[in-house]
Amino acid sequence: MKKLLLTGMMGLLILSCSKKENTEVPEVSSETAAVSEPAKANLSGDQIIETLDCSGCHSVNERMIGPSYKEIAEKYSEKDIELLASKIIEGGSGVWGGVPMAAHPQVSKEDAKKMVEYILSQKK
Ligand code: HEC
Repeated sequence: MKKLLLTGMMGLLILSCSKKENTEVPEVSSETAAVSEPAKANLSGDQIIETLDCSGCHSVNERMIGPSYKEIAEKYSEKDIELLASKIIEGGSGVWGGVPMAAHPQVSKEDAKKMVEYILSQKK
């Protein structure tokens, strides 16, 4: 009789434990979904670059389809941030050769400037 009571209590304990877990999981996932989407605002320039296609044509040290970030950093300075940010958004060609830089109309000016600041910081 005593044993039966104990197993009964154990069962209840396990039941209440797993029940608690089940109710907690959806709360956490809805929270992360809410923060991950809208704001690239809290990402740094290099993190924004990772979310986009830049690395398909650019790398830090080596010229690929586009110039390396080091080359860009050596050619430009802080006062060109505005110009380079527009170039990321609008695209263009003729500065480094005939291959055009892809346009990124979905990128905000603020994010473009952060990426330029990161690129310019690659100067040694
Ligand atoms: C399809 C290939 C491609 C992609 C994708 C690409 N670029 Fe470029 N990028 C180029 C080329 C080619 C140039 C050289 C353009 C020129 O000669 O005017 C360039 C030039 C640049 C320049 C220098 C602009 C200038 O006027 O000197 C910056 C800054 C730059 N890219 C940043 C980026 C960033 C940031 C991204 C991602 C949002 C990106 N690029 C994605 C190909 C690309």
